Amino acid sequence: MSNRTLAISESIYQYLCDHSLREDPILKELRDHTYDMEERAMQIAPEQGQFMQMLIKLIGAKNTIEVGVFTGYSSLAIALALPEDGRIVACDVNPQYTSVAEKFWVSAGVREKIDLRIGPARNTLSELISDGLTGTFDFAFIDADKVNYDHYYELCLELIRPGGLITVDNVLWGGATADDSINDTDTTSIRALNDKLHRDERIDLSLVPIGDGLTLAMKCG
Ligand SMILES: C[S@@+](CC[C@H](N)C(=O)[O-])C[C@H]1O[C@@H](n2cnc3c(N)ncnc32)[C@H](O)[C@@H]1O
Repeated sequence: MSNRTLAISESIYQYLCDHSLREDPILKELRDHTYDMEERAMQIAPEQGQFMQMLIKLIGAKNTIEVGVFTGYSSLAIALALPEDGRIVACDVNPQYTSVAEKFWVSAGVREKIDLRIGPARNTLSELISDGLTGTFDFAFIDADKVNYDHYYELCLELIRPGGLITVDNVLWGGATADDSINDTDTTSIRALNDKLHRDERIDLSLVPIGDGLTLAMKCG
């Protein structure tokens, strides 16, 4: 027994997956497909996808944002959890990655839900604000280049409605954020955002040790 979060050994992780993972076959197919790619570690863990699906259902999200699509696992998980009229604005700079994503979105029958925007996500999010969409989104998932995390957070905070949820991936960064001897740009960017969010009174906060660490930031009313 322990009153702190458990360290997850391989056998505990396996137990967790064996006793709670319910991965849609199309998500599993996409995960298997991405496994053959060198960049496969960029994809979120399946139990994280399932957790995010539950968050989306819990808050009744309809309008959502994804920053960082890659081959589309997290966007597909989000799309499958959304109601029929739910939408995702999905941002990425790499059309080679997103062409894989699009193939799987079509197979899953969710292509219509996803508004793919190719280009730097800072521009795309700023365009949404210029288009008058401030405060109209329910949920955002930030999982792109780490140096821009703070910008993505601020732009998403503007776009999200009060009570809406921003989720930020890789906040533990394989343990690097907790290791003061590691000071590369990605690590310091994530660490700076973690520190800022801890003090940020505009949100309610929880850092969940799932996957590589997922921060939940709920915009206060
Ligand atoms: C960690 S991966 C996303 C993984 C994805 N969420 C998943 O579950 O498979 C990061 C993605 O961010 C994209 N990216 C990098 N810089 C970007 C930028 N400035 N604007 C938008 N996307 C960017 C990369 O092309 C890459 O596909």
